[in-house]
Amino acid sequence: MTYATAARAAAAAASRVLDLLRRHPALVIGMPTGDTPVPMYRALVRAHRAGRADFSRATTFNLDEFAGLGRADAGSYRSYMEAHLFDHVNLRARSACVPDGRSADWRREVARYEQRIARAGGLDVIVLGLGRNGHIGFNEPADSLQARTHRVALQPTTRRANARLFGGQWQAVPTHGVSMGVGTILGARQVILLVTGAAKARMVARALTGPITTRVPASLLQAHPDVIVILDRAAAAHLAADLKVPRSQSRR
Ligand code: GLP
Repeated sequence: MTYATAARAAAAAASRVLDLLRRHPALVIGMPTGDTPVPMYRALVRAHRAGRADFSRATTFNLDEFAGLGRADAGSYRSYMEAHLFDHVNLRARSACVPDGRSADWRREVARYEQRIARAGGLDVIVLGLGRNGHIGFNEPADSLQARTHRVALQPTTRRANARLFGGQWQAVPTHGVSMGVGTILGARQVILLVTGAAKARMVARALTGPITTRVPASLLQAHPDVIVILDRAAAAHLAADLKVPRSQSRR
């Protein structure tokens, strides 16, 4: 679905999550980071403050984290989540899960993260952003992709895109990340792909209408039976017109 502005697109993603949360209070939600979902988190916090969102039985699992970083690091995704969501809603601390980038034993950590998701009953829904290079989570374009949570080397484009979290210094961005695998992501019962901005327009078209290839990790979403794509007009600019109309209208 295409919305006029990034703010409206983010609000639409938030209202999808809120609808699900109202229907399933023990919802298990996969969570993204980046600039794109910031207004979505704002909307979730606003809804909570207005008494329209109860996270007390929900569980969240973040898609990824920087290797070597954790709660004490301003650039970590854990810190991002605390600033944008965890500190402002009634999600239990033990239910707000982010891969532990500081774990001394990353092999154990990735296995533990998968087990926690499985024990929670799997992801009911996952909200995804799109990397400029087509990545989802930190699943970078490659000849092959990993199915499960794993440690990954970050590509220079991804380090540059994250430089703002590190004082604008891309060299300060960690060289590795920990990410859910594409199997973990595709295992979610529903996927909400939220993409805004002209800089992503070409990649949106490649991911949604191009061939399914590990060189565009987001293209694998074409194989998922329940994906809701939420775009602003700028991000939808390279899609054929018939793909841009809301699904409710296109079915008529
Ligand atoms: C990071 C995250 C991704 C996110 C991407 C896009 O690399 N690991 O999960 O989708 O950034 O971020 P932005 O929304 O800032 O463009």
